[in-house]
Amino acid sequence: MCGIVGIVGHNAVAPLIVDALKRLEYRGYDSAGVATVEQGTLGRRRAEGKLVNLERLLGAEPLAGTIGIGHTRWATHGVPNETNAHPHFSNGVAVVHNGIVENFATLRDELIADGYVFTSQTDTEVVAHLVARELARGVAPVEAAHATLKRLEGAFALAIMFEGDENLIVGARSGPPLAVGHGEGEMFLGSDAIALAPFTNSITYLEDGDWAVIRRGGAEIFDLSGKRMERKRQTSLGTVFMVDKGNRRHFMEKEIHEQPEVISHTLAHYLDFTTDGLKPLDLPFDFKTLERLAISACGTAYLSGLVGKYWFERLARLPVDIDIASEFRYREMPISKNSAAFFISQSGETADTLASLHYCRSQGVPIGAIVNVRESTIARESDVVLPTLAGPEIGVASTKAFTCQLAVLASLAVRAGVARGTISREREKELVHQLSETPRFANQVLKLEGQIETLARDLSRYNHVLYLGRDTNFPLAMEGALKLKEISYIHAEGYAAGELKHGPIALIDENMPVIVIAPHDRIFEKTVSNMQEVAARGGKIILITDQKGASQVSLKTYETIVLPDVPEIITPMIYALPIQMLAYHTAVFMGTDVDQPRNLAKSVTVE
Ligand code: F6R
Repeated sequence: MCGIVGIVGHNAVAPLIVDALKRLEYRGYDSAGVATVEQGTLGRRRAEGKLVNLERLLGAEPLAGTIGIGHTRWATHGVPNETNAHPHFSNGVAVVHNGIVENFATLRDELIADGYVFTSQTDTEVVAHLVARELARGVAPVEAAHATLKRLEGAFALAIMFEGDENLIVGARSGPPLAVGHGEGEMFLGSDAIALAPFTNSITYLEDGDWAVIRRGGAEIFDLSGKRMERKRQTSLGTVFMVDKGNRRHFMEKEIHEQPEVISHTLAHYLDFTTDGLKPLDLPFDFKTLERLAISACGTAYLSGLVGKYWFERLARLPVDIDIASEFRYREMPISKNSAAFFISQSGETADTLASLHYCRSQGVPIGAIVNVRESTIARESDVVLPTLAGPEIGVASTKAFTCQLAVLASLAVRAGVARGTISREREKELVHQLSETPRFANQVLKLEGQIETLARDLSRYNHVLYLGRDTNFPLAMEGALKLKEISYIHAEGYAAGELKHGPIALIDENMPVIVIAPHDRIFEKTVSNMQEVAARGGKIILITDQKGASQVSLKTYETIVLPDVPEIITPMIYALPIQMLAYHTAVFMGTDVDQPRNLAKSVTVE
């Protein structure tokens, strides 16, 4: 992951680099650093932990210079301390890096044998030494960088700067994204266009395998063989404004509460509420003749896809293969001719999801991207972008992007059903109308926050929690567990309720709260039987249900959260809210860093 920035500018660049890094902190926050060249000499400041530590250091020990590179780190090789923080130096060469140099061990042994001394545990340091070794052999800086790139294997975005040259940064991309920003007599490099938004909206995205020579006068782009490449400039839509928390304590809290609005925007992109019908959508395939749909994604996005599978299969009789992208990319799944593939990603940069997309591309399958970041790599590499209109999601734990992904998938499933003749015009109207009710019900559910907060205080005393659900509530059970563990660090598991007696029931005792997600649906009674099994073994049941469900359950629960009775198609979006609020408030009681939980990053650009 990690975020990188480079500026060849007019004024002191260190504060500008820090400003850009703030927009990239979602990519990692283990350490940060900046290096500049001033009067021919390299200088750097690095600090362990979040960017604010680097900012403080720069306040005490400022760094002059009108050219510089910066980095915010998500540790892959080496613990997150100052020594492992980027930029890395070697004899007049400074490097920042996002990604992994996979052959670093071989290169390091070669360099050590050549007398190079390693001061960090990172893979990045080999890049600095390799460039420095070329320079020591009398090779000019640009050629030295090019020779080094040819030696690297893996996935990386790099910015390389040279002592003695205040008008040169070399950038390179093999895998993770890198954008070149064009200014007036100044140039920029950044992991994404948003990072560069305060400086320029004129952007060239490097393509995989590109490297670029950046000077104040412009950028020259080459491929690995050294051939000059033409890449088009585009106007970025990236916003200059930093998103703030408003009057909320955390971004996550704000994002949870934004859901009625952003779900409504997202649905309105696909559905026409004046006619209760579908808006026109240009797809690179025809749902009518499609034989299979492959969906691939990671984490929370994967779980939205899993809900989507139930919808596509039930509403449109369209078989869906759904995979975790890190598995799909190596699974060599045979893809039949009449298939399409959807990739779901908030960031649009997730390495495994992108690699899965590349696999489907190689199989000639039409590709749709359900993404939140419209200018992301996954969006750019797809045949059709199916946007979630969640707005920037800053909290590392995904909330509003998840429910907006669900909104897109539900809308697409209805569309597929209409195209395939499994949904009549009357049913289409009914479903679209039901979907239009989501924001209203979501608002009602958010009002239950007080009850959920009180429950969260109790939950924060436990070390393990089990979530159960059936049908579309099974992915939600997994999502509830994922949310809780990632921000509160309480161990949690999500299971299909019917699986309980095949193993997990052995865990049930009074120290294991069991959160059951069970609206009153066709299989409600089945879930009630599972609750009986838990109750019989002394388990503490927290039931999330609707009014009908609550009125029909006779067994004693530890707590029952009663949501409004809602149409079946919108239950996943509605039931996502209490599980998000429960995780959020539990984490607040635990005192964790809710928006930037340990070891995580918002955008996972390494596999
Ligand atoms: C969990 C979470 C992650 C992401 C996953 C995929 O709250 O946010 O599990 O869903 O890393 O990220 P994207 O959607 O950016 O591909």
